[in-house]
Amino acid sequence: MTAVDVSASRDYQVLVGAGLLDQAGERVRAVTKAQTAVIVAGDRVAPLYGERAAASLSAAGFRVLRHTIPHGEGSKSLAGYGELLGFLAENRVNRGDVLIALGGGVTGDLTGFAASTYQRGMDFVQIPTTLLAAVDSSVGGKTAIDLPTGKNQVGSFYQPALVLCDPETLNTLPEEEFRCGCAEVIKYGVLGNAPFFNELAKTPIREQIEHVITTCVGMKRDIVGQDEFDRGLRQMLNLGHSVGHAVEACSGFTVLHGQAVAIGMAVVTRAAYEQGLCFRNTLEALLDILDKYGLPTETDFSLEELAAAMLADKKLSGGVLRLIVPREIGRCEIMPVPAGEIKAWLRAGGLR
Ligand code: NAD
Ligand code: GLY
Repeated sequence: MTAVDVSASRDYQVLVGAGLLDQAGERVRAVTKAQTAVIVAGDRVAPLYGERAAASLSAAGFRVLRHTIPHGEGSKSLAGYGELLGFLAENRVNRGDVLIALGGGVTGDLTGFAASTYQRGMDFVQIPTTLLAAVDSSVGGKTAIDLPTGKNQVGSFYQPALVLCDPETLNTLPEEEFRCGCAEVIKYGVLGNAPFFNELAKTPIREQIEHVITTCVGMKRDIVGQDEFDRGLRQMLNLGHSVGHAVEACSGFTVLHGQAVAIGMAVVTRAAYEQGLCFRNTLEALLDILDKYGLPTETDFSLEELAAAMLADKKLSGGVLRLIVPREIGRCEIMPVPAGEIKAWLRAGGLR
């Protein structure tokens, strides 16, 4: 097992290791005096891992309650949030108790937001079961639900008390979802860790899963430690996301997030190469590794469609988009791009 210490508005540990799911009870007990533990899980994850988590928590003396939500982004909604709060209130859960988010980013974001607001804030623990949640969403304290007008429009910065990551749970993840997590893993290598990028190119992520998760979590810890509230450096984590979000939106969210991030990284790196901001070998290394992990690097959406979606993105503040641009593998820069120059960037990125 590996432990990563996170230092933010609340200090906590991210534990990564096979078998941690069955130790949930004792591990959660070590960070809380709660009497009741409420497991929140999606309807695909609950049948796979809910019982084991519940058994471990019961054995450690918790009164265990379980709230199951439909899988998919739709649960990260005002309605899903209301249902979770209603469940907590009806079962007389109080702010001294603990919520356990067992699942991917949807479950973690919803549960974290409920934990940050129910009775003005209660502890929560993340048990990520997707690769994306393990390397990204379970760490760093961003919680959110969506509004009909857009994703993550309501949320909070609220750190968990503990993150327990058992990589064995990733074995049941559909291949496509695993690949999406790989896009986020590759992102970490491109933005700040060339040796890690080279390891990913040489050895499949599945064959070094604990090392991969720990490395990504360590990098995210370092970024969050310097910029917990997303005012500067943390925006680096958005590499590939500005174009990626536009691809997701244009597709009506049928292109998965990780696939869209892969396309976004490829487009922005192509544009960087065309404008003399990086060498050809940087672009080639990125395209090669994305291809190796079965991730897309191109989109059929037009320049006009993508530009319109990018201009509507909430990340465009004061008419300027802060684009994350690779200068070489392991080194990226935040570049302010005025709204009027977005189309030129997309054109340089190969879009027509
Ligand atoms: P997800 O939570 O929707 O999970 C993907 C699918 O995999 C779901 O159908 C789920 O039921 C299933 N699943 C999960 N674990 C499984 C397992 N072990 N075995 C079998 N099936 C399993 O998707 P995600 O990619 O984990 O998360 C996406 C969400 O995360 C988005 O809402 C995004 O906005 C959010 N996010 C948040 C942050 C953050 O910092 N808070 C960062 C990145 C993304
Ligand atoms: N996933 C982006 C962040 O945590 O800031």
